[in-house]
Order: sequence, then C-alpha cells, then structure tokens
Amino acid sequence: MSEMMKNYIEEAEKALLHTYNRYQIVLDRGDGVYLYDLDGKKYLDFVSGIAVFALGYNNKEYNDALKAQIDKLLHTSNYYYNVPAIEAAIKMKEVSGMDRVFFTNSGAEAIEGALKAARKYHYLKTGKSDGEIIAMNHSFHGRTFGALSVTGNPHYREAFEPMIGNVKFADLNDFGSVEALVTDKTCAIILETVQGEGGIFPATEEFLTKIRELCDEKDILMILDEIQCGMGRTGYMYAWQKYGIKPDIMTTAKALGCGVPVGAFLMTEKVGANSLVAGDHGTTYGGNPFACAAVSKVLDLFKQDNIIENVKEVAPYLEKRLDELKDEYDFIIDRRGAGLMQGLVFNRPVSEIINKALENGLILINAGTEIIRFVPPLIITKENVDDMISILRSCLESV
Ligand SMILES: Cc1ncc(COP(=O)(O)O)c(C=O)c1O
Repeated sequence: MSEMMKNYIEEAEKALLHTYNRYQIVLDRGDGVYLYDLDGKKYLDFVSGIAVFALGYNNKEYNDALKAQIDKLLHTSNYYYNVPAIEAAIKMKEVSGMDRVFFTNSGAEAIEGALKAARKYHYLKTGKSDGEIIAMNHSFHGRTFGALSVTGNPHYREAFEPMIGNVKFADLNDFGSVEALVTDKTCAIILETVQGEGGIFPATEEFLTKIRELCDEKDILMILDEIQCGMGRTGYMYAWQKYGIKPDIMTTAKALGCGVPVGAFLMTEKVGANSLVAGDHGTTYGGNPFACAAVSKVLDLFKQDNIIENVKEVAPYLEKRLDELKDEYDFIIDRRGAGLMQGLVFNRPVSEIINKALENGLILINAGTEIIRFVPPLIITKENVDDMISILRSCLESV
C-alpha cells in the first residue's frame, strides 16, 4: 500500500466516527463492474455499494443526465412542483403498479414514512393511537428509531431501547407465528421480500400469499421492504412481482438512485386516501430535482439496457457456479438467494476469506458472520462470474 493511501486511512480513523470496521482500502473511481483504489489497483466488485450500483460505475448516459440537472436546478422545496420528481413518480408508478409515491433520502427514512402511514391509517379507521405492527425476526430495516424498532435483531437495538412501542416479532416463512400475534389493534405486517442483512432468506410464495390473505381479511396493511431486494435484483423489478401479490405499502432505495442518495415509499390509492395528509409528513431534500433526475434516468436505463433480462440470464449461472463451490468444499453448507442476491453459507466466519479476496482484487461482503453475500452490479456477465469464482476459489484454497 502506498504512503498516500496509508495516510488517508490514518486521517480517516482520526476524523470519522468509528461506526464501521472498514476494509483497508481507499476507493477512488469506478468503471463498469470494476473499482480502483488510490494506488490504481483494480477490483472486480460483487458488492456494488451493497446492492446500489445496479447500472455499474461510470455509466455515461446516467452521468450526463446528472450533469445536465446540476446545470439546471439542484433543489427546490417540496412546496413547489419540479419536473424530474413528477417524471420519476410517474415512472415508479408504472413499474410498481402502486398509486402514490413519497420520495425520501434513504432506505431508513422510507421505512419511517411507511410506518407512519400505517399508524395513521389505523388512527383514521379506529380513532385510536394504539396500532400494533408485526415485523420479522432477523429482519433489517435501517438504523433510525422507527426502522430499528421493526428490525428483528436485538443486537442492533439493545443499547438504544426503548424503541417505538407496539411492535411484535414473528418468524419469516412461519405463518402460524404471524397469525398468533394478530389482534384487533394490528395495523401492519412488515417484511423484506428477501431478507438481506439477516442472511439472504427469501420469503416463500406460500408465506407471502397467506400474509396477503390475512391482511385482506382483517384490513391490515402489508408493507414490503424492497430496499435491498428490489430494483431488478431478483429478476423482477420488485421481488414481490414474482408471486402475483401486491403490498399495500412498499419501500425502495439503494439502486433507485444508483449512487445518488434517494429512497421512496409507495402506496395504493386506498392507503393514500386514508393516511398521510398535508402537514403529516415531510422532508427538505426528499424528491429534489437532482435526486429525481437520477431516479428518472435509472428507470429509463433499466428499460433501454434490458437490465432485468440480464439478471434473468446471468443469475442462474451465478447460482450454478456457487453450487459447484458448495459441492466442492465441505465447509460451505448452503447456497440460497434469489437472482443476483445470493448467499454462500459457511460453517465458520468468513472475514478471512473476504480479506483474502480483497488482496486478490475481488470485493465481497458478508451478511452475518458466516455468510458471503453476492450483490453485484446488475450488468455483470457470465465471464465476470467466472472471474469471481476463480479468485474466490483461490482464496478458499489458501485459508
Ligand atoms: C432491507 C433494507 N431495509 C432498509 C435498509 C436501510 O436503508 P438505508 O441504509 O438507505 O437507510 C437497508 C439497508 O441495508 C436494507 O437492506
């Protein structure tokens, strides 16, 4: 490592709050599926900023659209209309089939809005402020208080208790455990269609269908968190679209802006007409012209560049190659996931393998201590998969 990179890392450790154990590289630029550090070393990226850079780095059309918007207008208040936000909302409605969009600055903030909408729906229906929310064990919905309150991992919550009240936890894919928690105060059931941070666990079709039926029967709102698994990652624009069901509220972020911080929560007309009204919710930056120009261009490029078709073509190949590794090494005990959101489950911590991969020019990330997560840019090719597998195999041999 050069002195320059070492110095930057030392300065970072002095200046930044220690909320991350960072890998010892300073990333400088990206191109396609590759990242380069300050010393010019090239890395094949199978993380994409954790499921963010769907289109790959340095996409010219995307960059040009952002540059044009910078020269035009970066920000206005939400008290005025702006064309990029209108266009982005129309395109999001089209790809999701949802009816109303609220733009946020992050995933966690989208979750906050979704929870507020559900509580307000319950309040208008019953006249009471006692709505209960059912969330899932091992879920992850973000670090703000509302999002943390529905995150089913005590490790993230413990030091920050008390959380918001009236939240109960059931088990993903165990419908009985959800049913057992339902009361006449239940206003929402929230889950990730594919659990990400919790270890890459897809919700089953049966579970999602039964939750949908339960919600319809009892007028409970089904909230699907598509922040990590959405935006084409599973081979569908939103992972729930595979199953013939539709949530009442949906959250999205990460790849929505492909690098520009933006998220959204979307709802059906029924929820929109019976929940948040003027004065109930807001944000200064959410939905500003710059962020929405990014969203709008991302959605155009998804169509133009057949991003979802590429996921459908490459994902089965990634699964096949990961399955081969699983069969080859007895310390790999499972492979699971959906589309280009995959996890290899080890019977031991994976940090050493990930560090070794980094040394060898491959960026990987964990999901929990014993799972390597694969969430590459959605433009990857089968050749990129082969390159990744060959580096990973050499790391597995050496540890
Ligand atoms: C499923 C899910 N929900 C919510 C979040 C929080 O998003 P953000 O980090 O943008 O606040 C994440 C982030 O990893 C996530 O994976």
